[in-house]
Amino acid sequence: MLAKTPPMGWNSWNTFGHNINEDIVLEIADTMVEKGYKDAGYEYVVIDDCWSLKERSRDGKLIADPEKFPRGMKYVADYVHSKGLKFGMYSCAGMKTCGGYPGSYGHEYADAKTFADWGVDFLKYDFCYFPKSGNAQNAYLTMSMALKASGREILFSACNWGHGEPWNWMRSVGVHMYRSTGDIFDSYKSFSDIILSQEDNWSMSAPGCFNDPDMLIVGMYGKGNVGIDSGCSDTEYEAHFAYWCMAGAPLMMGGDIRNMNSFSEKLLKNQRLIAIDQDEEARPPYMVHSNAIWDNDRVYIKHLANNRFAIAFFNGHDTEMHPAFSLHEAGIPFYTGVTLDFTDAITGEHIGVIDQDAFSCNVPAHGCRVFTAEFAAR
Ligand code: GLA
Repeated sequence: MLAKTPPMGWNSWNTFGHNINEDIVLEIADTMVEKGYKDAGYEYVVIDDCWSLKERSRDGKLIADPEKFPRGMKYVADYVHSKGLKFGMYSCAGMKTCGGYPGSYGHEYADAKTFADWGVDFLKYDFCYFPKSGNAQNAYLTMSMALKASGREILFSACNWGHGEPWNWMRSVGVHMYRSTGDIFDSYKSFSDIILSQEDNWSMSAPGCFNDPDMLIVGMYGKGNVGIDSGCSDTEYEAHFAYWCMAGAPLMMGGDIRNMNSFSEKLLKNQRLIAIDQDEEARPPYMVHSNAIWDNDRVYIKHLANNRFAIAFFNGHDTEMHPAFSLHEAGIPFYTGVTLDFTDAITGEHIGVIDQDAFSCNVPAHGCRVFTAEFAAR
């Protein structure tokens, strides 16, 4: 089964935008292995928009831009595969891609065959220039069928930014992950707005098809294609990554992993947070305490496999806060002698068995604290 857990990888758009080329993709594949991202679970190397020529060939095929990809896409795919990684590409359900390159509308079967011939394992499928008279559901179904008919197993990643309530139909047309938001930018405001808008969507995610709140901005610090805002602080990147893990979101890195600072590199490879994201039961988090708006403290619990929990505190204030979590209000039968044993999921520090119904901690401004917990006797 594809996308049994949320897909993990790297995508070119956030950092490189239009300026993607073969050298960069090969170096990213090398980095995935050499710096341990592959061992941490990241699998797909995905080329986003702007890889093709502006026109199709006379027989209707997509052509990789020979200046950007002089040895062609099959070469790039083979190289990525030789590193034990999977290769992803991008097209669009409309007549053109968002960057103005040929889209796949009406060319679905031919393009799916081209991608399969090149050795593509993942297709991101955008929604720009979609015909006014077109039917989005049908267009995604058509490409899904074309990919299935291509003879290659290809993970289908839809990107229609939440138009037409995709959470109600993306799974049924064979999509494995679907963007339900506008684009992320490299700022605290951008990712916290996404969080606010997605709160109701996590319960639609389950093995086989995941809700996608867009790619990670961790480690960009204002550089790159979506760095038009000011970038984030380390604390903010930590809250962003931790939230994506609590949500069970796909983890597609968008920063330049060749040149990550050590804080961001360590964060992206944090095995305790990644294990929360990749938990086999893929359960959605739910909010156990909130003052209803992001600009206040928010506490989430996510049930994990084997009777374990992840509990996360997010602080949207500009000052440090001290939120609390009540075990019995979250359904843990504290008053019958049961409690939880907490471990800090960010640092790995074992906190220990909690002997009061309320557990509270300091949370830095715009930051988070995340814990895993298991049942214990009190
Ligand atoms: C849209 C998508 C982005 C990216 C660009 C490429 O904006 O939402 O993720 O793929 O197109 O042009």
